[in-house]
Amino acid sequence: MEIVIVDSSEDGAVIVADAIGRVVSSGVSPTLGLATGGSPLGVYRELIARSRAGTLRLADTTCFLLDEYVGLAQDHPESYRSFIRREFTDHTDIADEAVHGPDATAADLSGAAERYEAAIRGAGGIDLQLLGIGSDGHIGFNEPSSSLGSRTRLKTLTEETRRANARFFDGDADAVPRYALTQGIGTILEARHLVLLASGPAKAEAVAAAIEGPLTASLPASALQLHPHATVVIDGTAASLLERTDYYRATYDAKPEWQEI
Ligand code: PGA
Repeated sequence: MEIVIVDSSEDGAVIVADAIGRVVSSGVSPTLGLATGGSPLGVYRELIARSRAGTLRLADTTCFLLDEYVGLAQDHPESYRSFIRREFTDHTDIADEAVHGPDATAADLSGAAERYEAAIRGAGGIDLQLLGIGSDGHIGFNEPSSSLGSRTRLKTLTEETRRANARFFDGDADAVPRYALTQGIGTILEARHLVLLASGPAKAEAVAAAIEGPLTASLPASALQLHPHATVVIDGTAASLLERTDYYRATYDAKPEWQEI
C-alpha cells in the first residue's frame, strides 16, 4: 500500500486527478468507480476544471457508483445518483447513460445487486476506484463486520454513519436512510487500482487502523491491505495517528519520476 501524505486536500486532488487522467487516456473504454460524500469533491472539482479547459477527455468513460441509499427516489437531491451528477458528471463530457449505480428503488434488491455486479463485469471491471472512509472504518457502505469477500448487497447503516451523513439531510439523522445497496468488499477489491482519500482529524483513528492495524472485518478499510495496488491519499490531520509517517513521507519524496501512484 502506498501512503501519500499531502499538505492540503487540493494537493491530493491534483495527484489523484493525474492518475485518473492516465487511466482515461490509456484505455479504450476506461471505467471509473466513483465515491460520494465529501472526500472526493476536490478530485471532482479538479477533473471538471481539466475537462472545461479541454485538457481531459472523459467522453468514453463508464462510471460505477460505490453505493446507493435505499428508500430515496433516483431524482431525490441526496440520492447518490443525483449527488454525482450535481458534483461531477453533469459538468463533464461523461454521458449520463454511462453513469451506473445499484438500483436501490427495485422491488427485488437482491436481483438489483446481482445485476449491478454483472454490469461491472460486463464493462470489464473497474480500472480505478475512488474510496472515502467512514469514521467507523467503512468503505462504500460496508459497515464493520462486513465480510471481506462480500459482493454488492443490502447493508444496514450504523447509527454513527447516519449521524455523520445527517449534514446532507438538514442535520436530521432520522432522515438518513437506514439501508443501502453497496458494492461489497470483494467487489471493491477487484478494481485494478484503489485510491482512498481522507482528510481531517475525525478520520485519523480509522485511517491508522486501516493502514497499520490488523486485517479485520471489524475495520472494513483494512481490506486495502490485501490489494496489490492501493493508494491512500491523506492530509496531515488524517495521518496524525499513524506511527510510520516519516517512512511514508520519505518513500513518497524519494519516488522515481517514472513511478506513478
Ligand atoms: P465523507 O464520507 O467523504 O463524506 O467523509 C466517507 C464515507 O463515509 O465513506
